[in-house]
Order: sequence, then structure tokens, then C-alpha cells
Amino acid sequence: MLRNFFIFYAFAIVAILVIFGFRGQTFERPPIEIFPDMDHQSKYKPQAESSFFADGRTDRPVVSGAMPRIAETPERRALLTDDYLRTGFQDGEYGRGFPIEVSREVMDRGQDRYMVYCYSCHGGLGDGNGITKEYGMLATPTFHSERLREMPEGMIFETITHGRGTMMPYRAKLSVEDRWAVIAYVRALQKARLGSPDEVPGDKREELGL
Ligand code: HEC
Repeated sequence: MLRNFFIFYAFAIVAILVIFGFRGQTFERPPIEIFPDMDHQSKYKPQAESSFFADGRTDRPVVSGAMPRIAETPERRALLTDDYLRTGFQDGEYGRGFPIEVSREVMDRGQDRYMVYCYSCHGGLGDGNGITKEYGMLATPTFHSERLREMPEGMIFETITHGRGTMMPYRAKLSVEDRWAVIAYVRALQKARLGSPDEVPGDKREELGL
């Protein structure tokens, strides 16, 4: 019994020393490094002086004629110059219409990305009844309201780019082109909701049991 007490006593002292012992103490000298790993390497820091280069600067000038990688193809170059494509704004207002050609390929891409990044909240029909509603995310709106049907494409672009309210931004996950493709798919969902059976092409009518 007494032995147990001493063991406990010793433990308590060690514990108290460990917890309170060296708190707030600063050391003047760097700690002894047994394994320095790769903590210390010779390198130049940005904008530091250099004794190696004749002009004394570590930063080297850009080679003449160099272009950012983003500008390699005509489409990529358009990203640098076409403001509506990049921002969703036209003459200081949310733009309407698409700055890209909406092809079958773009639609398929839009559907694919929608399924990955929007479906969980906005649902397969765009009615805002995604799985997250069951878990309490009640704020997700339907795309089939008058307001969202009339919303300029540029404003949807901004919603995806910067988020809105509780909706997170998706600019890091969707490239500029992918965002427009998703918007095209959102437009298709909205149109489908308002469509009538007469608009279904002949060869698809049977598929839908019309
Ligand atoms: C995690 C859930 C979630 C995901 C994923 C999500 N949204 Fe939303 N979205 C919301 C919520 C919640 C709102 C309502 C935000 C508010 O008004 O506070 C909203 C609003 C919107 C609006 C209307 C904005 C407005 O001004 O009323 C649009 C358009 C929209 N989302 C498009 C998309 C698109 C396109 C995607 C896929 C890239 C997407 N959302 C992904 C939850 C989500």
C-alpha cells in the first residue's frame, strides 16, 4: 500500500515538472541539432543581393519574348483579354448570353461537372432537393423560380466563382470554361422543366413513353 503511494507520488512530481517546469522559458542559443536533416541550405531569398550576377540581383529578368503559359493557345489567350468570359461582367453589369460556343461537347462537360460539384445540393432536377437537404441544408434554392430563370448568365458565373451566402465558391475546382459549361447545363435544366412533350424530337418520344 505504502509502496503504491510512493510510486504515485513520484509520478505526480514528474508530471507536475513536465507540465509546469519550463513554461515560458526562452533559450538564447539554438537547440543542439543531432539530426540537422535539411534545415540549412544555401539559397537566395527573393529580391536579395547577389554577388554572383553582374547586376547584383538574385532575381533574373524575364527572357525577352516570354509569355505566361496560360497564353499558349488562342483559347487560353482569350482568357487574358476577354473580360466577359473571365468575369461574367459586360460593361460593368452582369452579362447575358454565352461567351463560348455552346456545343454538344460543352453540354456533356457541363452535365459531368454539374453532377460532381452541384448535384449534391441542387439535385438532379435543379430543384434544390439534393441529398444535403436531408442533412439540414435548407437554403438551397430551386433553379426554377422566376428570379433564377431570369438571372443573367454572368451572375450565375459570379455565384459559381465567388459563392453566395452559404454556398462555397467553386473557382478552384472549375476552370473558367467549365463554369460556363455548367451554366449551359443549368439553363438546359431550366428549359427542360418548362418544356412541353411536343418539343421532344420524334425519335426520343418513345423513350419517354409519350
Ligand atoms: C454545398 C451545397 C451547394 C453546392 C455544392 C452548390 N450550391 Fe449553389 N447554392 C447553395 C445554397 C445554400 C444557395 C443559396 C445561397 C444563399 O442565397 O444564401 C445556392 C445558390 C445558388 C444559386 C443562386 C444564387 C442567388 O443569387 O440566388 C445558383 C445560381 C447556384 N447556387 C448555382 C450552383 C452551381 C452551378 C453549383 C455547382 C458548381 C452549385 N450551386 C453548387 C448550395 C450549394
